[in-house]
Parts: sequence; structure tokens; C-alpha cells
Amino acid sequence: MNQKISNDTELLELEKYIEELETNGLTILPPDVTGVAPELVDRAASALLNRFTELTGCPISLAQGPLKALEWPDGGRARFVAAENAPDPTQALIQQLLQIDRSFRDLAVNPKVDFLVDHMMGPQTRGQGSARRLSSANSFIKWRGEFGYGPDLGLHPDQGANPLPWGDTALTANVTWALTDYTHEAGALAYVPGSHKRNSWPTPGAAEEAVAAEAPRGSAIVFHGATWHGAFPKQTPGLRLNAVAYYRHISVLPQENLRVTMADQPWEDCDNPELMRELLGFDDPFPYSEQGFPLPRVAS
Ligand SMILES: [Fe+2]
Repeated sequence: MNQKISNDTELLELEKYIEELETNGLTILPPDVTGVAPELVDRAASALLNRFTELTGCPISLAQGPLKALEWPDGGRARFVAAENAPDPTQALIQQLLQIDRSFRDLAVNPKVDFLVDHMMGPQTRGQGSARRLSSANSFIKWRGEFGYGPDLGLHPDQGANPLPWGDTALTANVTWALTDYTHEAGALAYVPGSHKRNSWPTPGAAEEAVAAEAPRGSAIVFHGATWHGAFPKQTPGLRLNAVAYYRHISVLPQENLRVTMADQPWEDCDNPELMRELLGFDDPFPYSEQGFPLPRVAS
């Protein structure tokens, strides 16, 4: 049981979001439910813009987007769309947010969000504790562009690396914190309601069923790893900014090797260090890197 959600009022408040998660495979928690203050959102946003400039050399603003022309390395993983002749991307992925600023560590341990992620992943099969762990924390910084992910909206299930058939238990869960208002025109997340129950990759024509996850700044968009999702192109000026806390079932490989990368980082500096320790998997038995199991010695 989640330690911070202990009283009936809070449980009751979350009930409708849990129901929506079960029916649609996605729910949106507004800031008055997550308790995230506007100051925290401001802080996260400005940390991301600074990091973008540090990594690219390009100044950037929320209202205007990148303030200089950008060029991309050819092909490879820089491209978000595999299609031939796809135009240059109009978004960039900033990785390893947990190391950048405390605001991202606080978002990752938000008690309401944690309750929902815990609900989707449940307990470890044979253990006492919860199965949820962090997989990565990244940000998509997206600016104006007609193409986006192209006509199929880049629809995919996040837990697609895991073999089918999937069960009800989420193998991964995505919590996209909207750091700017999410609207269809401003390039919101696209998703197909109920697709988490189809137990498959998107089928042809799925994009026609997609709807926008519209949400005010500071909301948490929470979805199951089997939910088909992508994004609409950003048709408005300025930036669409997010911080994605991506979770995994303990049986699933993390995207970032957080147990190693965060060991010497200020992971304790957050609202709930105990939960952060668990989410980073510091005490998990696997994967091990030394002989830890006791061995007998020849009797003397
Ligand atoms: Fe995704």
C-alpha cells in the first residue's frame, strides 16, 4: 500500500481516475489533485530550457521556441521518424532529468501518481513490496512543425519490447507531466482510448481513432504501457514542454541504468527519499555484479 495515501477521502478522490485508467488506459490528474505547485512547474521548465541551451548552444524560450537555426546529425537515432524524406525533427529529447534538478525528483515521487502506477503494476510476484520501479526520466522539447510524427502520429505501445501476449499488469507506465498547456493544436499527446485492452501493436487506421490528451499546465497524464499513443504536430508558436517519468515493472529492463547512474547523484534530495530508493532499485537483488550468495568453505 502506498504510504502517503492512507485516508479514505484521498482514496475516494482517486477512484474516478483509477476507473478511467482501467477503461481508457489513460487518465489526467490536474494540479489540484497532484498538489504540484506552479512554482515547481516553473522551476522544471526553466531547468529544461537551460539544459537545452547547454547541450545545443541554442537559446530557447517558451513563447518563441529555439531562437536560432538548428541542424541535425544525419539519420540514425536523431530522427524520430523513419520515413524517407521526413523533414528535420521539430523536437529534441533531453535525457537523465533526475540528475538535472530536484523538481524532477519531486515529480517522480508524487504520491498520487505513485498510487496509480502502483495500482497498474501491483506487488512483486513472490515478494512483499511493490513491483514498480523507475525506468527513465526524459523530456520532449517540441516546437512548431507541420509534420510531427507523420500521418500515423507515431502511435505505439511503450511496452512493445515485451513479447505478446500481455496481461492486465502494466509492464511499463508513462507519466507525462505537462509543463505547458496541452491542446490538440499545440501538439498534445495522441492516444486511442481503450487500446490497452487490445493486446497488440496499433492496427491500420488506428490514427483515425486517436484523440488528444488535452490538459492544463502542471497536469500529470498517466497511461498504461499497452496504450497506443503518439503525438499531434505542433501548429502553434512556442514550445510544448513535458517531463516524462517512465516506470517499469521490476521484471522489465530499465531504459537508463539508474542504479548505476544515480548512485553518486543527489537522489535523497526529494520529497520522499525512501520511495526514491525503492524506485531506483538500489536494494533489488538483480542484476547483480558480484558473487553475493554465501558459499561453504572446506572444513578445517
Ligand atoms: Fe511512447
